[in-house]
Amino acid sequence: MMAPMDNARAYREHIAELTRRHEAAALRGQVDTIVLGAGLMEYRFLDDQAHRFVASPHFLHWVPLEQHPGSAVIFNPGEKPVLVVCRPDDFWHQPPALPPAQIAAAFDLRVIREPAELGAQLPGGRRTALLGPPTQFDGLLPEAERNPAAVVNHLHYQRARKTAWEIDCVRRAAVIAAPGHRAAAAAFAAGASEYHILAAFLGASRVTEDELPYGAIVGLNEHGATLHYQLRERSPPAGGNRSLLIDAGCAADGYACDITRTYAARGHDDFAALIAGMDRLQASLCDAVRPGVAFPELHRQTHRGVGALLRDAGLVDMDPADQVSSGVTAAFLPHGLGHLLGILVHDVGGHMADDTGKPLDPPADFPKIRFLRTLEPGVVVTIEPGIYFIPSLLDRLKSSPAGCHVNWPQVDALRPYGGIRIEDDVVVTATGHENLTRPLLP
Ligand code: GLY
Ligand code: MN
Ligand code: MN
Repeated sequence: MMAPMDNARAYREHIAELTRRHEAAALRGQVDTIVLGAGLMEYRFLDDQAHRFVASPHFLHWVPLEQHPGSAVIFNPGEKPVLVVCRPDDFWHQPPALPPAQIAAAFDLRVIREPAELGAQLPGGRRTALLGPPTQFDGLLPEAERNPAAVVNHLHYQRARKTAWEIDCVRRAAVIAAPGHRAAAAAFAAGASEYHILAAFLGASRVTEDELPYGAIVGLNEHGATLHYQLRERSPPAGGNRSLLIDAGCAADGYACDITRTYAARGHDDFAALIAGMDRLQASLCDAVRPGVAFPELHRQTHRGVGALLRDAGLVDMDPADQVSSGVTAAFLPHGLGHLLGILVHDVGGHMADDTGKPLDPPADFPKIRFLRTLEPGVVVTIEPGIYFIPSLLDRLKSSPAGCHVNWPQVDALRPYGGIRIEDDVVVTATGHENLTRPLLP
């Protein structure tokens, strides 16, 4: 068994790495100070009710204070970073807590009572970059640059490489999500509705829907074909539960996990066999994750694998390579193999060639994929191949030249199952990879 992580030490090392990155970013942007604002509460139009507060990722990168609007980190190279915590004197709401000792120790901690007091904490007469939602900086340091590209691009490019602290956050997020996935699978098998399957997930993971890093996708039967299906039917489908696609993650200290599983109900053997085939393909793609691998090449490998799966299942009578070049596999798998994962579920920097923000050109055969970089140690990616029966894409395929190679009666028999996606979160190590989610959800 792995030794438990020394979180305090990992956090100190994380701060040391962020210090190096922000020093370099300040040089790039030719500024003396970088301020990273958490953002402010935003209110609904003509209403006194606030939207759910989501802290700016630049702020969360430094400090896991997820519900601290009006707070900020002030970074001056060569000095201990300042953490300004905004704690309103409020008897309508619970004021945000101060950070625990191991977090606070990394900062010169200051407390303000309202967001407007941030201005008094900022050093005047210095070249300053203000990073975060611009409304937090209204009226402050008018001469300071707001989100300058040179600073932001450096930080976004570097953010693909996670520190040990960040990897542990994703790992802890997966530990929180795993019991939810198990409870959801049991609820599905018992015939529950989408609404009740989600309730089972939330209850077993002991989270509220507000705390999820992205809207959970809980699709029964045909709903699995809607890639980001967002509804929650209150009643089970009239014909009963045939299949479940659940894409649901939790968060820990501001970092997301992103996990998908697909299940077939008992007796639906053809769909179960297709899930088993996709599971083997997904495992082989995870195995291919290692430093030096260009992600677009893994995407290509995915499409060849999907082509082989479609052929072996008797759905398409065509060589896998020809299926890829003629667009058949794209009709069944219209999204990318995966993406960077971290503070944001679709984390930043995936299309950058370097820290100036120069874009990488997408490959001509897959012009729409967004994660284009070559893997390196510390990068956390999702590996999420799928096969879907999406009516509009199947209609187009049917009328294309390759349509005659498709076994339509067999495809039609699988439409009522919607689709399959299997998604794990994988960290690139020095020599290969570690799958953060599969040991928890075999
Ligand atoms: N949960 C969204 C995605 O898998 O990208
Ligand atoms: Mn994903
Ligand atoms: Mn997902």
